[in-house]
Order: sequence, then structure tokens, then C-alpha cells
Amino acid sequence: MSDQPSLFDEPESGSSSAGELNPAVVAEVNDLHTQLNQANYQYYVLDDPQLPDAQYDRLFHRLKELETQYPQLLTPDSPTQRVGAAPLSHFDQVTHEVAMLSLDNAFNEQDMRDFNRRILDRLKQTDAITYACEPKLDGIAVSLLYENGVLVRAATRGDGAVGENITQNIRTVPSIPLKLLGNDFPPVLEVRGEVYMPKKGFEAFNEKARANDEKLFVNPRNAAAGSLRQLDPKITASRPLEFCCYSLGRVDGADLPNTHSAILNLFSRWGFKINPEMKVVNGIEGCLEYYDNLAQKRNDLAYEIDGIVFKVDDINFQQQLGFVSRAPRWAIAHKFPAQEEMTLLKDVEFQVGRTGAITPVARLEPVFVGGVTVSNATLHNMDEIQRLDVCIGDTVIIRRAGDVIPQIVSVVQEKRPQDAKSIVFPKSCPVCESHVERIEGEAVSRCSGGLVCAAQRKEAIKHFASRKAMDIDGLGDKLVEQLVDEGLIESFLDLYSLKLADVANLERMAEKSAQNLLEAIEVSKQTTLAKFLYALGIREVGVATAQNLVNHFLDLRALVKADLEALLEVDDVGPIVAKHILSFFAEPHNQKIIDGLLNIGITWPAIEKKDSSELPLVGQTYVVTGTLASMGRDQAKEYLQRLGAKVAGSVSAKTSGLVAGEKAGSKLTKAQDLNITILDEDAFLALLSEHGIEHAG
Ligand code: IVH
Repeated sequence: MSDQPSLFDEPESGSSSAGELNPAVVAEVNDLHTQLNQANYQYYVLDDPQLPDAQYDRLFHRLKELETQYPQLLTPDSPTQRVGAAPLSHFDQVTHEVAMLSLDNAFNEQDMRDFNRRILDRLKQTDAITYACEPKLDGIAVSLLYENGVLVRAATRGDGAVGENITQNIRTVPSIPLKLLGNDFPPVLEVRGEVYMPKKGFEAFNEKARANDEKLFVNPRNAAAGSLRQLDPKITASRPLEFCCYSLGRVDGADLPNTHSAILNLFSRWGFKINPEMKVVNGIEGCLEYYDNLAQKRNDLAYEIDGIVFKVDDINFQQQLGFVSRAPRWAIAHKFPAQEEMTLLKDVEFQVGRTGAITPVARLEPVFVGGVTVSNATLHNMDEIQRLDVCIGDTVIIRRAGDVIPQIVSVVQEKRPQDAKSIVFPKSCPVCESHVERIEGEAVSRCSGGLVCAAQRKEAIKHFASRKAMDIDGLGDKLVEQLVDEGLIESFLDLYSLKLADVANLERMAEKSAQNLLEAIEVSKQTTLAKFLYALGIREVGVATAQNLVNHFLDLRALVKADLEALLEVDDVGPIVAKHILSFFAEPHNQKIIDGLLNIGITWPAIEKKDSSELPLVGQTYVVTGTLASMGRDQAKEYLQRLGAKVAGSVSAKTSGLVAGEKAGSKLTKAQDLNITILDEDAFLALLSEHGIEHAG
């Protein structure tokens, strides 16, 4: 079918050819649309089928027949058009006319009470606020644009400002109307909601994939996202996706009701699925009660949810409250606590990190928790092992919250088998056999082998090559391990004398990639002093501290010569960090490596001696939180420091401003409470620009 109507497709008037359009045919096609749309709505949206399958098939078949005979009657909103059009080569970009916002999170009752309090205060209200409560579906957000009731465009959220055009794929989701029901819809309507894969569909999909030896999805959310990201809509069509709407995007040419709940009810009349659990409650107590009820029901729901969204129901109030940092002040997501599962602790191994820290790692009987299969969990240190009173062979409760590393939270003592084995912390390093020491007052035990220990050397080299350090493209963890294991390098200095033939001879290495690696190593010689300092891997010297040291000392010589007193003058450097810096530079081995690195030609631009009191943000302290769309947090911190500001890790009364990206959490709440200036990404970019920093996205 062609979208462009052709003059030559039109049947000649008065002729009795097969393609002739007569009003009765048009009426029949319209009637079939109405009947099939209604049947779809009852089946997929209301979950209440009215039409027998055979009857549906008969109507569908008849419509197809008419569309073949009269192609000019085949429109994109026809119920036959859900099966999937031709594959795309890429997704076009879509700019959202109204930004697609995200939500702030609440993690406990207090966060919720604080949210309610902020709203009452801002609105100067004493009466309880009416809230609309909805489950927070764990899928992906989409925007659906309808013109004169016909779906004309569907887009992903993307970064909130620009998403991808996924209209072809969205058409295949049966609970999304291609044409709105009724006739009282506005000429332009953008509806937003979540596309998700119900638990059953997800399990069935994975079961089939397992049987066919295909890749499984780790959780329903990834399944929904992966299904919508298909260039071939036929693949999307084969996935059991559903859509539930939760907000208005924009409306033109009509007035909508003045509460969120009434708008959603209207959407339901126009053919959208709204969450049957949606409820309007009174005040914070109503919210907390709703949360408790749904937490009980969570496992019985047909779909995954990760919390509850509470929204101020009154649209006037919403408008008064407005937005901050890409999240509305009038809504919040109260997250459910992390999910927990029981499994068996099969063994404990000890891993050695860059600084020699020895971490016990639990090897578990694999278990599905929080959306992924978990087979390892950290046990942190000996204290933690004692606190848990855990033995090998125990049944343990593990928890996986969001993206954090799985934790063992407790031991089911009643299930301890007779032959449970205590966990013995090694006295010597499992890698180099050096003595293991534990400094008084520290929880961590460390291998004393320093760079004698292959594990520490490997980690030091990985760190040196990493993106925020020397940024050696192509030198991944596996390759570092190979280079050390093959005896080609011992320290990161040796990277700069690697020979092409040696690298090319490594397993899974070709001449070309070896060449690329050597080039990347060469390129890394041009760096900045802050990156170089960070790359050295001095304990407790992260990206921000490295930058603070550079801002203070301006050159490496001055830093190396600095004594304790001088170091303590640097922002954010306390006695512990200062001690690590001093002992690092006092160590002859490190001195030799630094000299070596300088001798092979590592350089950085000299830093001008600027009177720091002239910098525009001098005397101000900023905190950066959340996700910024155009840059990483480290980059944001670096810019602030360049302008003379201090960057701190937590918000206090002394904070001058909070740069808050998306998904900002408790720091944002605290800053709001303390009435601290909050800069969203746009405001932050404007501040930078005002002081001569033009950040290119
Ligand atoms: S409202 C302005 N309601 O959560 C408010 N979002 O963290 C915009 N989500 O991107 C969102 N269920 O994908 C809202 N009932 C619900 C939701 C919901 C799931 C997702 C949505 C959004 C994310 C925000």
C-alpha cells in the first residue's frame, strides 16, 4: 500500500470496474472498523471479550477482502494494520513538544511525609490534598500523538527532550487504539503511558526462547524495551506487549477536565487502558494506606511494578507547583523495598583489589531476584561475615535492590546443615601469598605484597588505562590480564615499551588491533595533569580530589614536594588522604615509575597561574546530583572547579547551589528543604555559558 493517494488508483466514475467505490462499500468498511475496534477494546483494554473469536475472524477477513479490492480504503488506522509494516533502517528522532519528565523517588514513609509537607507549604494549604495513586509500571515510557482521533506518531521518551519515532512498532501493540473511540476527542491529543510485558507473557516468551536456545530477557522491563527497539515491526508484533496510559502530554483545541483522575477516565472512554488499581485518596494517610495495600498485592498483579506513583489530583494545583530539575513537584514515586530471595551459599572466594583489599565473595546457587539471576554476592569483609554468622553450606537471604550489587542480608540458621564449614579468612594472599594485614580500626584486610602481587598490578594497570584516567582505547580488563599473565608488562610504565609483535602474538589479537592498541597508548601520552594524577591510583584520590590538587598546586613538582601542612590546605583533603599522598610519593618504586612516565614523554598543558580569587565562583560550594543528559557528573564538577567553585559531596546549609540532573534523590529533597538554589541542566549550562564555558552536548 502507498501512503500517497494516486490519481490513477481512483476508479473511473460511472464505470462498473472491480475498484469502483460506492457509498455502500465505504459504509461497510467504516462499520467493520467500528466493530473490530470495539472488539479489540473489549478484549485487550477491558479484558472483557464480547465477540466470539470466529465472528471476529470473519469480520477481519471481510475487511481484508474489501481493502484488497478497494486499496484506496485501506488507511493506516485500519484494524488490519497491526501486523507489522516493512522493516526500518533506523529510528528517526522526535522532539517532544512538552518534555517527558521523570519522577523523584521516596524510599520510606518519612520521604512521603516530607513530600506532602512541601506541597502543603508551597500551596499554603492546610486541608488534606487529594492524590491520585497508580502503580508504577516497570516498562518503558512512550508518547502517542493523535490527530483527529488517528494515531499519527509514537515516540520513546529518550532523554526527555528528544526520543525515537517508534510508530511502526507501537501500531502492533493491540491495547493501543489506532483510532480513538467515540467522537468527542480533541483535534490534537498526546497521551503518555507505559508499554510493558506482563509477567505471564514474559515467562512464556523466555520459555520459548530457552527451548529454542535463544537469548533470554533478564526481566520484563528489558523485554519491553528490547521489543520496542526492533527495526522490524513484525518482531515487535510477536511480543506480548501491553500499554497503560498515565498522563496527558498535550492537547489542542479542547478543554480537558481539571483533575488528573477525570482526565484518565476520559482517556479510558476514548479507548485507552488505564490502571484498574488507580484510586483517588485523601491526604498523606490515604497515600500510605494505598501503598501498604498494594505492597501486599504486588506479587499477585499480572505485571511487575516497582513502586507507587502519587500525583496531586487537582490540575490547578499541579500548575502552581510546577517542576524542578525535570521532575514535577506534584508527583513522587514511592519505591518498594528491594526484593529478596533465599538461596544456598556454596563457597566463598577471596578477591584482591587494586589497593590490596581482600574481599570475600559469596558463590551462590543461582537465584532469580530483583529481575536478574544472581550467582555472586559480596560479603564485604570479615566483620560482615561475623555479623551475619554465615557458614559455607548455609541457606541465605539475598537482596538485590535496583542496580546495586547483590547482598547477603541474613542467614536462615534453622537450615544450617551438619557439615556447614566456617569461613576462614586467608592469612596469606590468595594470589601472591604475601602476608595479609589488617590495620587496627580498619575493617579491610589487605595483601601486603603491593606491586609484587599480580592481582594488585593488574588492577593498577586497569585503573591507569580507564576512561577517566589515561583513557587508553581498546585496553580492556581481559587484555590487561593477558599482558600481565604473559609477562609482557609488570607495571603501567611497561605499556609504553610494548612491541607490536608481542601484542599481535597474544591470543585473540590480530595485527590490526595490536596496531590500534599501540596507537591508543601513544595517544594517551597527551593528557592532563588531573587525569595523570588520578591514573597513578593513589589511595583515596578520585577524580575530584585529583582536580583539587591540580587547582591548588598547578604543577606536579610542587605537589610532589608538598608536606602534610601544604596538602591539608587543599579543598577536601583531610589527614587520611594527605597521608596516602605523602606515602605514595615517598615510595622509591613509585618515584621510579613517575620518572619513567615523564621520560617516555607523557605531557599535559601547563596550567596558567591564575589568581584564583579572580575566578567567578570562588567562595561558592556546589553539589552535583542525578543524571545530566549532556555530560557526566565528573565533567560537571570539573567545570565548576574551573570556575573556582568548591565541589562537595553532600548538601548542607553552606551549599551555594545544587546542580540536579534527572533521578536526583535525597540531595534534591534536602536542598529544597534548605531553600538552596537548584539548577536544572538548562540552568547549569546557562551558568557555564555565562562564564565562557560552552559545553558541546
Ligand atoms: S508519571 C510527570 N505514572 O516512571 C510524570 N510514570 O520515573 C511523569 N512510570 O518515565 C511520569 N508508571 O516510565 C508516571 N503511573 C505512572 C507510571 C510512571 C511508570 C514510569 C515512567 C516514567 C518513570 C518516571
